[in-house]
Amino acid sequence: MSTIEQSTKDAIGQDAEELLRLDGVKKYFGLRGVPFRKAAAVKAVDGVDLVVRRGETVGLVGESGSGKSTLARLATRLLDPTEGRVTISGQDVTTVRGRRLRPVRRKIQMVFQDPQASLNPRQSVGTILTTPFRAQGIRPSRAQLIELLHQVGLSEEHLERYPHEFSGGQRQRIGIARALAVRPGLLICDEPVSALDVSVQAQVLNLLADLRDELGLSYVLVAHDLAVVRQVADRLAVMYLGTIVEEGPAAEVYAAPAHPYTRALLSAVPVPDPGAARDRIVLTGDVPTPIDPPSGCPFRTRCYKVQDVCATVRPVLEPVAGGDHRAACYFPELSSPPTSERTP
Ligand SMILES: Nc1ncnc2c1ncn2[C@@H]1O[C@H](COP(=O)(O)OP(=O)(O)OP(=O)(O)O)[C@@H](O)[C@H]1O
Ligand code: SF4
Ligand SMILES: [Mg+2]
Repeated sequence: MSTIEQSTKDAIGQDAEELLRLDGVKKYFGLRGVPFRKAAAVKAVDGVDLVVRRGETVGLVGESGSGKSTLARLATRLLDPTEGRVTISGQDVTTVRGRRLRPVRRKIQMVFQDPQASLNPRQSVGTILTTPFRAQGIRPSRAQLIELLHQVGLSEEHLERYPHEFSGGQRQRIGIARALAVRPGLLICDEPVSALDVSVQAQVLNLLADLRDELGLSYVLVAHDLAVVRQVADRLAVMYLGTIVEEGPAAEVYAAPAHPYTRALLSAVPVPDPGAARDRIVLTGDVPTPIDPPSGCPFRTRCYKVQDVCATVRPVLEPVAGGDHRAACYFPELSSPPTSERTP
């Protein structure tokens, strides 16, 4: 094996450095002030295990309300977990707070969904880009700020401008530059393109891919649009009602989704082969409330394969067909989904 092949394998193989590890992470939001529901809580994230290794792009997908943003905030320690452990580059940071979070912020940064809302309209781009340096006690040079702008396809003349003077795509580039300022190894991008026009989405995704190659970055890319994640993810994790129901190498999960929920989600995504379309699985019923999720399998109220056992104990992620493709289902699908000829 050549050195390049070996280093590529090491970069995203099982032995590559773990940049992020979540063990049994939960986040319950209390429902104070709701009559008769004193003990009730929104189980936004309900026991997630996830590992992100150096060089990987992990796509995190799921319907609205499945807990993706909450998980992103837990991973970046913007939220305290109710239970579980958060480990960043080998260091347990679950209870680290305040100034002691500074070194953590150098390793992991977040890009937010809505660049309009996440950039202070009263600050110039220069001030916005200076903030993460200052949080680390560093005074950046003008050259450093210009280099950041160049990295995201902007230029020196943008330094003195304000967010409202930019397009949505450019604003997101500023958000990415801000996240890159302190040279993190891992970016958690929460729906980084969903607030943008379709025509601009591809440009921002291409930028993220270029930065990954240039800077050796790893990403967790949160999206509800599977077609977006498909372009860039090495691994895929599928969330439903606060839990990960399937995860594995993206190509394997796309080709042969094992969990009925993933199968339903993917059946709605266009396939690259124009001659074939997957048989569409229509999800019926609403997503149950995370205040009172179903017993056993969280997906059982909408599942086309449900049986009695599914209401008993929650299934855990188990390997399907060997390797590190895993699904949390008592009756996983073990073959590729059927396709039907597209009618002209
Ligand atoms: N601060 C909070 N207090 C109470 N409930 C919350 C809070 N933040 C999130 N939730 C609830 O937690 C659940 C998960 O929310 P979250 O924003 O993580 O989902 P999401 O997958 O990111 O959804 P979307 O795709 O719409 O962004 C939802 O039911 C949401 O209403
Ligand atoms: S465990 Fe049962 S209800 Fe849950 S996804 Fe599998 S078959 Fe469906
Ligand atoms: Mg969200």
